[in-house]
Amino acid sequence: MVVQTIGVVGCGQMGAGIAEISLLAGYAVIIYGRNEDLRPACRGRVQQSLQRAVSRGKLEGGEAEKALARLRGVAHLAELAAADLVIECVAEDLALKQSIFRSLDSLLRPEAILASNTSSLSITEIALATRRPDRVLGMHFFNPAPVMRLLELVRGLHTSDETLAIARKVGAYLGKITVTAPDSPGFIVNRLLIPYIVEAIGAYEAGLGEAAVLDASVRLGMGHPLGPLALADLIGLDVTLAIADTLYQSSGNPYFKAPALLRRMVAVGRLGRKTGQGFYQYQR
Ligand SMILES: NC(=O)c1ccc[n+]([C@@H]2O[C@H](COP(=O)([O-])OP(=O)(O)OC[C@H]3O[C@@H](n4cnc5c(N)ncnc54)[C@H](O)[C@@H]3O)[C@@H](O)[C@H]2O)c1
Repeated sequence: MVVQTIGVVGCGQMGAGIAEISLLAGYAVIIYGRNEDLRPACRGRVQQSLQRAVSRGKLEGGEAEKALARLRGVAHLAELAAADLVIECVAEDLALKQSIFRSLDSLLRPEAILASNTSSLSITEIALATRRPDRVLGMHFFNPAPVMRLLELVRGLHTSDETLAIARKVGAYLGKITVTAPDSPGFIVNRLLIPYIVEAIGAYEAGLGEAAVLDASVRLGMGHPLGPLALADLIGLDVTLAIADTLYQSSGNPYFKAPALLRRMVAVGRLGRKTGQGFYQYQR
């Protein structure tokens, strides 16, 4: 099967980024945003990011226009029916993802591939909502999708070799380096990353130091581009909490246990960059 049209479900930070790189790789893209996202806002998000790339000299104006001409924003899942591959990027919630996969399964051609960008949920469990578990896998991109090189392909218990091979090929066209991970809690990257972020928030809560001091120590002492608290703000504190909770529940490993401070910040809507306030304040 040759993938020509990619469907993206959800146009938050990951959905918009994945749509953008798919357009730039030459795919036709259909992006679904639920009603609140409003189609113009979805399209506008991708357009703004392409324009930023043009103004930084990373992309020709003509290329951005051609890419945008291949983008269609839709407000009904049924309009994704022509897609060969759909990458789901909605909130990190198993019941929500399963309901979307159930609908997509009945709307798309039987050979179409369904992928989830989930950070922590089981691909095998998501696939159970479909009648094509062999054609379901995880395609875990990193944030921001246009910048980060890695793509983790997650193999559920039923994922076929053919499905993985097609996803690997798409990943290469998108300019990503792929690794294949088993469907175990956190796959590879979040198995290692989330305990580190959780520990940093716990240490901050316990008064180890100011956010800027903890982050600068990691940046300067370990050569990371971002410290753990700035990284949590970038990921989104709601997304970070949802990942930590899922990983703690599915593994029982206390390293994933979310600190009380993270839960309180999410409860009051301090979600990081996307709301303008997290461990730091941001201009919006
Ligand atoms: N933020 C990251 O760094 C990151 C990295 C890799 C993977 N992910 C994963 O990508 C997915 C999306 O994360 P994000 O950071 O883009 O989140 P986000 O909050 O920016 O966007 C979430 C999107 O889901 C949509 N949504 C929420 N509830 C919905 C519903 N009931 N029906 C339809 N759409 C709904 C929202 O409208 C929004 O467009 C999650 O599974 C997350 O774990 C996130």
